[in-house]
Amino acid sequence: MHIIAKLLYIQASPRGERSKSSQVAQSFLESYKEACPDDETIVLNIFDEDLPSFDGFTVQAKYNIMHGKEHSDEQRAAWSVVERIIGQFTGADKFLVSVPMWNFSVPYRLKQYLDIIMQPGYTFGADENGYFGLVKDKPIAIIYARGGEYRPGSDREAFDMQKKYLELAFGMMGFAGINSIVVEPTLQGGPETTEKIMQAAIEQAQKLARNF
Ligand SMILES: Cc1cc2nc3c(=O)[nH]c(=O)nc-3n(C[C@H](O)[C@H](O)[C@H](O)COP(=O)(O)O)c2cc1C
Repeated sequence: MHIIAKLLYIQASPRGERSKSSQVAQSFLESYKEACPDDETIVLNIFDEDLPSFDGFTVQAKYNIMHGKEHSDEQRAAWSVVERIIGQFTGADKFLVSVPMWNFSVPYRLKQYLDIIMQPGYTFGADENGYFGLVKDKPIAIIYARGGEYRPGSDREAFDMQKKYLELAFGMMGFAGINSIVVEPTLQGGPETTEKIMQAAIEQAQKLARNF
């Protein structure tokens, strides 16, 4: 019997159809749908989503759990929203993320989402040997779009806090073997370059999606 899987697509560009990372992700989703027509895809557009701010009540609720203390009513209410969002994340079987580079890192809304879901006891744990992930054996593909170029081995590689940070964050939660598609340079290089790199990224995404 084919088990229906849930794919969570985290879309981190607010640029709608103009977004290069979202366009590549769309091609991925189309090929994935052809390969696994019965699977469910949940789209989480983090700029449209009503994400709670990680404010004083929420931070205190996090510390209360870490220190074995009771919540106040406000803290309990704030934490139940966090738990609902974590539940949606951990309830998925497969993950697709499309993300623009903003100021060498990720857009603030993706950081906000990660601040919500990266919680000890939910998505990672810690012991005397350090951190360990609690999200196990789940595939993930991350599509990175950048206006410039940050090739490994180049002078600009060190500027790339986008891929480095997401690999650390998702790796800490337990994801192993992250599939990366890098779309660069989307701005430097002109329309011909953009068309060429988009075509290559789309082909890479389609191939990956068919065996995801
Ligand atoms: C607020 C903002 C900051 C950006 N910062 C960078 C940057 O640091 N480095 C870079 O190469 N491109 C930067 N860009 C360009 C984007 O990475 C590029 O346009 C990319 O294609 C955006 O992804 P998207 O098309 O999926 O939205 C920035 C764009 C915006 C809107």
